[in-house]
Amino acid sequence: METQLEYGNWIRKKILLGLGVCTLGAGALIFLPLGLIYHLLMALLFILLLVSFLLPLYSFVVFSQKGGRFQEKVYNLIIQSLGVTGKGRILDIGSGNGVLAVKLAQQNGAAEVIGMDYWGKDWEYSKSVCDRNAQIGGVANRVHFQKGDASGLEFADDFFDGAVSNLTFHEVKSADDKREVVREALRVVKPGGRFAFVDYFFDVKFYGKASEFEEFLKGLGLSQFAYRPLRELMEIPVLLKHPKVLGKVGIISGRK
Ligand SMILES: C[S@@+](CC[C@H](N)C(=O)[O-])C[C@H]1O[C@@H](n2cnc3c(N)ncnc32)[C@H](O)[C@@H]1O
Repeated sequence: METQLEYGNWIRKKILLGLGVCTLGAGALIFLPLGLIYHLLMALLFILLLVSFLLPLYSFVVFSQKGGRFQEKVYNLIIQSLGVTGKGRILDIGSGNGVLAVKLAQQNGAAEVIGMDYWGKDWEYSKSVCDRNAQIGGVANRVHFQKGDASGLEFADDFFDGAVSNLTFHEVKSADDKREVVREALRVVKPGGRFAFVDYFFDVKFYGKASEFEEFLKGLGLSQFAYRPLRELMEIPVLLKHPKVLGKVGIISGRK
């Protein structure tokens, strides 16, 4: 059997496990003989925990390669939105397990792809899985992974022909203003180079109001860009449109 790329999952297993254990615990505590009010309160807590467990569980299944393969669909959308570069250098910012970088290399036969990430303990991704995925994907000679911080990329201005990123910018704790992470990502793209970034671009908490963020993007002097909610570009299952899952996710793509 052909070895499959190891995607990992945008929903962390340790979070699912924690929620599952709390839900079971609350379910068991309902039966302690401590009176009607206690039973009612515990039943309410159980229902709240159950709902907050089932949504991420459902998302996990839809995202995974054994379920709805949704992560792969988003990667395909990013690659399609980036447009063909074919050759040159492409950067993936916050590459996780490196699957997007590997796919970019597979679909851009003469390109060199660099994936960067800080691979902190809070996530279930690693550079060693990235390197293995590059081997499995048959592109280890053209894909390289390196540790870094997305708020201060270790690359010269205008270094890349293209850049992508998926669900990373809002996670960058070293930047208070996530719009500055977008500016930093674009700094390393050549004038005329392509970019496609997916993140919670419609979440006021990270990027301010959509109209203000659009003004910010206009102020960057890009030669061309589109800023759209993800749901306008691909089918998203109803439950995943929840604001805590993908409801506020958007894509910015274009040319510097
Ligand atoms: C939701 S995951 C997405 C990973 C990957 N892009 C994917 O599609 O599977 C967020 C990623 O952002 C990375 N990350 C968080 N803060 C970062 C930083 N300051 N610099 C670089 N990567 C960072 C995490 O390590 C994690 O891999």
